[in-house]
Amino acid sequence: MRAVTISAPGGPAKLTSSRVNLDEPGPDEVLIDVAAAGINRADLLQRTGHYPPPAGAPAWPGLEISGTVRRAGHESSPWRPGDRVVALLEGGGYAEQVVVRGTQVLPAPEGVDLVDAAALPEAACTAWTNLVDTARLRAGEHVLVQGGSGGVGSVAVQLATALGAHVITTAGGPERVARCLGLGAEVAVDHRAEDVVEAVRAATEGRGADVVLDVLGACGLRDNVRALATGGRLVVIGLQQGARGEIDLGALMARRAWVTGTTLRSRSAAEKAALVAAVREHVWPMVAEGRLRPVVHARIPLDEAARAHELLESGVPFGKVLLVP
Ligand SMILES: NC(=O)c1ccc[n+]([C@@H]2O[C@H](COP(=O)([O-])OP(=O)(O)OC[C@H]3O[C@@H](n4cnc5c(N)ncnc54)[C@H](OP(=O)(O)O)[C@@H]3O)[C@@H](O)[C@H]2O)c1
Repeated sequence: MRAVTISAPGGPAKLTSSRVNLDEPGPDEVLIDVAAAGINRADLLQRTGHYPPPAGAPAWPGLEISGTVRRAGHESSPWRPGDRVVALLEGGGYAEQVVVRGTQVLPAPEGVDLVDAAALPEAACTAWTNLVDTARLRAGEHVLVQGGSGGVGSVAVQLATALGAHVITTAGGPERVARCLGLGAEVAVDHRAEDVVEAVRAATEGRGADVVLDVLGACGLRDNVRALATGGRLVVIGLQQGARGEIDLGALMARRAWVTGTTLRSRSAAEKAALVAAVREHVWPMVAEGRLRPVVHARIPLDEAARAHELLESGVPFGKVLLVP
């Protein structure tokens, strides 16, 4: 089958259309014909040689897809040929077909185009596990979502809104700020022009945010801690501005706040299965009710994966970029 492989670590030009062999699905696995694959920043890192796929995963990138089940590896599988699905992968999504554990497959959510549905698995799982499992976000609390214009952030803003939280988010420029308000954020701050901490204080009568979901990392650390309310929880999920920062422990102590970080890809099969089940139970109904939708910036042919990576690296997209075989 056709896939996009990485010929050598490097720039987008190292993405190459190739013919590859795919293993037959094992008893717990499902073979899926791909309708679309979501592009993630982790794929850019993998391309440059900084994020190797875990053992057993295909060498070619791609952490999420939508598509149609071709066959399951065992008759006891809940998945049947023709089922319209999405899946969370360890790799291998940039291809015409994928083989994935059945526990990482979800039905394509109702009311969403099958191609666009590829924008949801990674973002929905990331937003759910960090906002709910880790940060324990509750209705009525204030949450700051850094980067509401991003693939993850655009879903996190909608999810937190659907959970009944007051959402403050950031984006670069007035047009992107306006689009974040359209996703349900009560306050959207232009991080290029405004002081984000001041904006959070203004939106919370000086209290600060109960939860901060951060995609910046080191350079955002100081302001993210300053933005926290007493008892606040900062969850770092992205390191776009560095991995090593200095933290003001006094500011943390004064707030009785905590800071943590999580990744999705490194989790065990059992943890991913539990997360996928939780997303199916709690997030999919929000999609069916129209309270959460995939935000797709562009659909690009699989063979033009290099152009898709350049687009994501440009910082222009609002939401997800998808590859379509
Ligand atoms: N830990 C995990 O499990 C996990 C899972 C998925 C993704 N991630 C990570 O999460 C991060 C975001 O992923 P994504 O798919 O959403 O990427 P993306 O679509 O490229 O979005 C990047 C976001 O960062 C924002 N941003 C950049 N500079 C900013 C600044 N100075 N202040 C505030 N926001 C800023 C961008 O906003 P503007 O362009 O509007 O400025 C945009 O919203 C990546 O680092 C990714 O690797 C982690």
